Amino acid sequence: MSMKLWGGRFATGSDQLFEQFSSSLGFDQRLLEADVVGSKAFASALEKVDILSSDERDCIRTACDEILKESQAPNYFDNVDDEDIHTFVIRKLAEKVGELAEKIHTGRSRNEQVATDLRIWLREEIRDDRVRLTEIMQSLLSFARREPSAVLPGYTHLRRAQPVLWAHYLLAYFEMFERDWERLGIAFDRTNVLPLGSGALAGSGFPFDRQEMAEELGFASISRNSLDAISDRDFAIDFLHAASVTMLHLSRLAEDWIIYSSEEFSFIELDDKITSGSSLMPQKKNPDAFELVRGKVGPVVGNLTALMMTMKGLPLAYNRDLQEDKIPVFDAADHLAGSLEITRLSIDTATINTAAMETAANESWSCATELAEVLARNGVPFHRAHQIVGTLVLESLRVKKQPQDWTAEQLQYIAPEFGTDAVEFLSAKKALENHKLPGGTAPSVVLKSLEQAEERLANMRDEQT
Ligand code: ARG
Repeated sequence: MSMKLWGGRFATGSDQLFEQFSSSLGFDQRLLEADVVGSKAFASALEKVDILSSDERDCIRTACDEILKESQAPNYFDNVDDEDIHTFVIRKLAEKVGELAEKIHTGRSRNEQVATDLRIWLREEIRDDRVRLTEIMQSLLSFARREPSAVLPGYTHLRRAQPVLWAHYLLAYFEMFERDWERLGIAFDRTNVLPLGSGALAGSGFPFDRQEMAEELGFASISRNSLDAISDRDFAIDFLHAASVTMLHLSRLAEDWIIYSSEEFSFIELDDKITSGSSLMPQKKNPDAFELVRGKVGPVVGNLTALMMTMKGLPLAYNRDLQEDKIPVFDAADHLAGSLEITRLSIDTATINTAAMETAANESWSCATELAEVLARNGVPFHRAHQIVGTLVLESLRVKKQPQDWTAEQLQYIAPEFGTDAVEFLSAKKALENHKLPGGTAPSVVLKSLEQAEERLANMRDEQT
């Protein structure tokens, strides 16, 4: 039977089956560093209220540092059977400082400790994810700079719709990731609040300086209500929501690029570094990295649902159900971090086939809307203009003509309002030039958007450091 922090009230020990069932060390060992730095701050607080002498405080803090160092060793957690990471750290402390370790829990509960540990851990994770997101945003901007004039057919219903600049397409994802970065920032702020000093549920009976503990642990503020602080996990739900939306966005890019890199499209060439082959079909080059990103949305969104369901109907304040909070958080964090990193590498190593893209945009009557608008500008009611161009497309399909096969004279024969310049708009590159409103795909507008995105990204980076 393992050491307990609560044995006194029990006449007999717990069953081994229960011990195995209730132990969380298998997963909460990831909180070791957070638990140790929290214990260091708490030792200082105990010294301030005269529970520890300054020598005892130093002794505990030094032992904490040693534990941290030792924990780097592989197999550190082999053959241990403690109930959770907090019990494990106390046992390690006791091995180093003897009876003194028994004082560290004065006025402290594992309930507040685990809430604090998870916040410390998650804060770092969110910080790293935001950096990863800025790296992806940088990759998108660099790609846009490399290919400023490439054109592709924009799609609706996955049917060629209107031509857009490749840079404009990339900037669409920049916008999504920028909002994800903001959402993660909100989750960070909600996480960055210190529960320590809340006791088991009712606050502490010792006059700890909570503000000082917050400063040592880098928290922006202290929690305002002890019941809430030890028992809510909405900061983690905020993270899981932000992670889920980020994954949704990553999966949309993944899906686009899986399609665009297929033989049918051949717009994008994915690098060997992020693709894999088939054990049977020698010719295959599969977009596995993107498929995995797409696949991982399932577990991440599932983790959001899992934690919400764990929280549903929980009576105040702490309940052991809350131990289950860490599994979805860790799992989602791992999927998100991996997906962000592989997406960045995939973007950085991809190349585009500008000719194939432009041909697709030119061949597919993606200029039709533009032609109808030429007529409308020349006084034809739009409904009629739409009809005229629709008939032109139908006729072209019948006689197998491409848009570029039509001459100015032929167009004017169909409708004199086409004027002499309508033929120019039969090319995709020309067709998008009119889209000069803010947010549009005209090259001059996209260039400005690109510059503004670069500026915003620089500010995001500054904010991060
Ligand atoms: N391991 C627990 C958790 O993760 C913390 C311990 C609190 N246990 C308790 N019985 N009050 O939530």
